[in-house]
Amino acid sequence: MLDKNRPGWWRNATIYQIYPKSFQDTTGSGTGDLKGIISRLDYLQKLGIDVIWLSPVFASPQVDNGYDVSDYRAIDPMYGSLEDMRELIAEGKKRGIGIVLDMVLNHSSDQHRWFLEAKSSRDNPCHDYYVWRDGTPDQYPNDMKAAFGGPAWTWVPEVGQYYFHQFAPQQPDLNWENPALRRELYDMILWWMEQGVAGFRLDVIDQIAKEPDRGITNNGPRLHEYLRELSAETFQKGCMVTVGEAWGADLERAKLYSAPDGSELSMVFQFEHILLDQQPGKTKWDLAPLPLVQLKKTMARWQTGLHNQGWNSLFMSSHDLPRIVSRWGDDGKYREESAKMLATMLHGMQGTPYIYQGEELGMTNIRLPITEYRDLETLNLYQERLEQGYPEEDVLASIYARSRDNARTPMQWDDSPNGGFTAGEPWIQVNSNYREINAAAQIEDENSVFSYYRRLTALRKEYPVFIEGDFTLLEPEHPNLFVYRREYQGEQLLVVCNFGDQQTEWELPAEWKDAEVLIANYPPQDGNLLRPWEAKILLCPAVRS
Ligand code: GLC
Repeated sequence: MLDKNRPGWWRNATIYQIYPKSFQDTTGSGTGDLKGIISRLDYLQKLGIDVIWLSPVFASPQVDNGYDVSDYRAIDPMYGSLEDMRELIAEGKKRGIGIVLDMVLNHSSDQHRWFLEAKSSRDNPCHDYYVWRDGTPDQYPNDMKAAFGGPAWTWVPEVGQYYFHQFAPQQPDLNWENPALRRELYDMILWWMEQGVAGFRLDVIDQIAKEPDRGITNNGPRLHEYLRELSAETFQKGCMVTVGEAWGADLERAKLYSAPDGSELSMVFQFEHILLDQQPGKTKWDLAPLPLVQLKKTMARWQTGLHNQGWNSLFMSSHDLPRIVSRWGDDGKYREESAKMLATMLHGMQGTPYIYQGEELGMTNIRLPITEYRDLETLNLYQERLEQGYPEEDVLASIYARSRDNARTPMQWDDSPNGGFTAGEPWIQVNSNYREINAAAQIEDENSVFSYYRRLTALRKEYPVFIEGDFTLLEPEHPNLFVYRREYQGEQLLVVCNFGDQQTEWELPAEWKDAEVLIANYPPQDGNLLRPWEAKILLCPAVRS
């Protein structure tokens, strides 16, 4: 068990993300709940994780599945009660698992008391908690667009002004320039710290310092000033793990976010690697293949760039991304091999690994009739592209590959109806492959994807080189091998991944011939051939004199 009172404890942690709506239902309502999570803590303990990042469970009208918070100190009744949350925190602690809450501080719900007051009158003290601009009903303040489609401005006749929203109109942006608003947020965070949480994930935190008059959404001039204040007023008063979601972070910014002096956050959650299969200047819906050589170089640049200067999150999956085995692996014939290969590639690196629910089972994307999709981003995109004249089959192809709902179908626990997720009608369809791909079939099977993730997680605890080692990319130009070396105090790791279903000839460097195989996704074999999606990690211990 990690001692979560030791500064920097999160460097040794593995984090597991739960999307509570789709994790485990205990009431038959068709949506997951906190009691469901409690009932699965033993499973998570077996996997070996140290922290749960819980997507938002606060009171919310659920326009964006909880990323529209109407009361930051209340649990949405759909998920249970504050009592359940306290129980989850306590039961987690018993198993060495801390709870990280997902704080949406860039915007609130339009049903939050602050916003209801704010839009009632320009004189209300809460008015300035949001971002307002004068105008007339037929003339937007400017032509900025919202992330989920449509303009970033919505007119409120009562006050004769527009408010600014980077996401849906039901997610008005909070005005961080207002010190009273900032104080409210800090007090709320302190209150949650008193409840015993282990830390916070900060939703789209790079967007809090927006300046719409200058067209600025992320990386606003005051961003890091706000983060330092937030951190000093809250997180630094405990031993919190904090992670900032920052779509707009480059390496230099990441060093600020995750500065080793702890002045901002523990680590950054940035997307440079995951956006590589997106064409420049296009959106994620315009599908493009993954350029592996570029992926290697990008990962290597972050590995070496942040070494001793910051800390990164290691992830390939989340509730906003399609399933990685469908995206970069092979969700057909080589599903298990490729899922394990991808995990090897990532978990051998420096940083804190994140496992998104079901990733440890090799869960895959889905294809649903459009009426069965639930994500507002997906539904807006579908409408928008049809109106723009895209052929429906192309739009659907993009949705099958990239919809956020790929990650949001219910967790597949066993082969009983609805995969054991609910006894009722699930809020979104369960992937029909749940009879083959489910936790019950994998937990006891030592060759399963689950067991592989479990071993990787354990290895990171056993060998400090995983946490501390430096990074050297080998074979940078090789078209399908991803090979790298880590080293710490003479101890070395070699991570070898064959990215694709082709057999690849590759001779192990002589000094590694007798190395110990820590983990591999195939049985050993003589010769120089790497099999489809083959992956392994070798260890050369330090020579002690
Ligand atoms: C983040 C969340 C995403 C949400 C958005 C708006 O990107 O991860 O799910 O829709 O912020 O809050």
